[in-house]
Parts: sequence; structure tokens; C-alpha cells
Amino acid sequence: MLLDFDEHRLHRRALAVAFKSGPMQAYLGELNAGIVAGLARWPRRREFKFYPAIKQLTLDLAATSFLGEELGPELDKVKRAFIDMVAASIAVIRKPLPGTQMRRGTRGRAFIVEYFARQIPRRRARGGQDLFSRLCHLTWEDGSLLSNEQIVDHMSFLMMAAHDTLTSSLTSFVYRLATHPAWQEEVRRELRGFGLAPGEPLPFERLDDFVTTEAAFKEAMRLTPPVPSIPRRAVRDFEFKGFRIPAGTNVNVNPLFTHYMPEVWPEPDRYDPTRFGTAASRGRHKFAFVPFGGGAHMCLGLNFSHMQAKCFAWHFFNRFRVSMAKDYRPSWSMWPIPYPRDGLKVTLDAV
Ligand code: HEM
Repeated sequence: MLLDFDEHRLHRRALAVAFKSGPMQAYLGELNAGIVAGLARWPRRREFKFYPAIKQLTLDLAATSFLGEELGPELDKVKRAFIDMVAASIAVIRKPLPGTQMRRGTRGRAFIVEYFARQIPRRRARGGQDLFSRLCHLTWEDGSLLSNEQIVDHMSFLMMAAHDTLTSSLTSFVYRLATHPAWQEEVRRELRGFGLAPGEPLPFERLDDFVTTEAAFKEAMRLTPPVPSIPRRAVRDFEFKGFRIPAGTNVNVNPLFTHYMPEVWPEPDRYDPTRFGTAASRGRHKFAFVPFGGGAHMCLGLNFSHMQAKCFAWHFFNRFRVSMAKDYRPSWSMWPIPYPRDGLKVTLDAV
């Protein structure tokens, strides 16, 4: 994300191979198994905090679909290191002084670098379906392999890019459907129409059939974009609304603002998945809906994210009705990535 122009294009092209249909089918296998196992541990018929539970689940899913194999006791260390790195990336104290989050983050980073570098030769020798093993086999256009350092940096970034964004979007998705039970029923009706038994693995070929579910997920991300501010730098002088912006200025694109523009989204505060129907979407500006950014840097994990959201919806709404106490209005922090301050208290009942 921090590269630009030719260097960025080369890396992006190399990484894109890991998100083609073949690898995606393998990741879906891991997601199916991981989600079923994770949901089995969630409590029923009593209130619990959804946000920490889904955070744990997305981290477990990233670990299996990105890292593959059973990692044994090291898996917990890898997960802990990522949590510390993400927390350090927004820590106020930017020096790794003793006792600070930055110190824990830099230690986590050192462990991750050592851990990935140690695994690369083994993964090169034996292959594998997970993202990490695929990166170990990626080549540049001249046929040479990515360096250890490049693989480590891409893996760290992918784990971080995937984890909090998916946690945030799945939380707001479940929150919106818990507060709009009629839409929750619509989603369930769609899933029931697939003719598959609840608990069965979701087949890759069914992903395009999630029309209502996808609209419900997108509308949740419109109202609560997981990345509320996207960094850019002006490559040339330009004018915007009467302000002259010189080349080199840092500017932020703000999806939160864009997603609430009443001229594009009438009654912007209202949750209404029909906005993403074919007719309603026709003619809408292509940058009106930008949870995944846009242009040369648009999120490479967009299809992966939709696939994970659908796989989650398939297993979750098929088995559970999710509700919240009447009059309960959780407060959301929108920074650095939207999350409910109290963890979002929900109750699951079998359907
Ligand atoms: C709901 C989940 C996600 C959201 C909302 C999201 C959002 C974003 C946004 C806003 C950007 C910056 C785009 C720009 O600058 O225009 C981005 C970049 C990126 N994301 Fe995601 N992301 C999500 C999940 C993922 C996942 C699951 C992966 C990988 C498995 C991923 C990989 C990346 C990569 C590699 C980039 C950098 C692309 C580039 O600079 O060329 N993201 N994402």
C-alpha cells in the first residue's frame, strides 16, 4: 500500500496471482471449516459480546487460510505478535521505550520476521494451498522468486489488512441485521433457497447467488466503512472546491463523508440494502461507494472479503437468529477502525 508507480504495479501484479479463482477455492475450504468450528464455541440463549468473538474468529481464519498447516504452540505467538503490531501502528508513543505498546509491536515484528523467514525454505520445498505457501512460489516477470524480505513484508501487511477490516465489517453487518429483523429474515430466506443443509460447506459456485446477503453487507459497509480515511498524496497541483492543493500535499479520501452524501444516498442514515439492487445502482458514480478504496490501489482482498462475509452469513444466519436488548443503542468509535465501544451485546437463538 505504501509503494507507488512501477514498483507498486510489479508487486500488485505478483500478489494478484494469490487471489485468482483456484487459490480462492482453497481458501473457501479453510473458511468453511474454521467458521463452523468457531461458531460451535459461541454461547446460545444468553447475552455475549460479539466484537471480541468475531475478532478472535477472523484472526483464527486468517491464520488458517493464510498460513495453512497446524502451527501448534507457535500459532498463539503469531496471533499475539499481529495483535501487538496492529496496536503499535496507531500507538501515540512512537519510540519502542520499555513498557510501551510500540515496544511490544517491534518485538512482535521481530518475531514475525524470524518466524516467516525460517519457514520459507520449507514451504518452497513442499508447496501448499495457503496464501503464505503461494507467496513463497510467486515469481517476478523474469521468473525469479520474491525475496525473503518481500514475502515477509507482504505477509505481515496482508494479515493486518485482512484482520481488523473484516472484524469491523462483520460486526456492523450483524449489528444492522440485529436491528433490522425483517432484513435478517430476508437474508435467511435467501440462504434457505439454496437447497443446501445448514452446516454443509458453502460451495464456491454458489457465491454469486448471494444477492440479498451481498446487498445487506454492502449497505452495512456504506453506513460504517471499515477504513474511514484513505491516504493519498497529490501527484500534481489541483483545485478542489476553491482550495488550491499543491503537488506533494498529503490528502485523505473520506469514505465516511462520501457514503453519507444525501445527493447520492437519499436519507443517508437509513439502512436500506435495496440501494444496491441493479436498478438503484444504475448510473451511480463509480466512486460513490468506496469501502475498498479505488483506482490503482483498490483493495486486493475485495473478493476475499465478500467471500468470507458470505461464508460467515451462510453458517451464522442459517443457524442463529441474532437479537439485541430493546432500547440498547451501542456507541461506536469510528477511529482508527470502527468498533462498538462496549463489544456489542447480542443474543443468539437457534432458528
Ligand atoms: C472488509 C474488508 C476490507 C476492507 C474494507 C478493505 C479496505 C481497503 C482499503 C480502503 C484499502 C486502500 C485502498 C486505496 O488506497 O484505494 C485497502 C488496500 C489493500 N487491501 Fe484491503 N480491505 C479489506 C480486506 C482485505 C483483505 C481480506 C485483504 C487480503 C487478504 C486485503 C488486502 C489489501 C491489499 C493488499 C491492499 C493494498 C492494495 C494496493 O495498494 O495496491 N484487504 N483495503
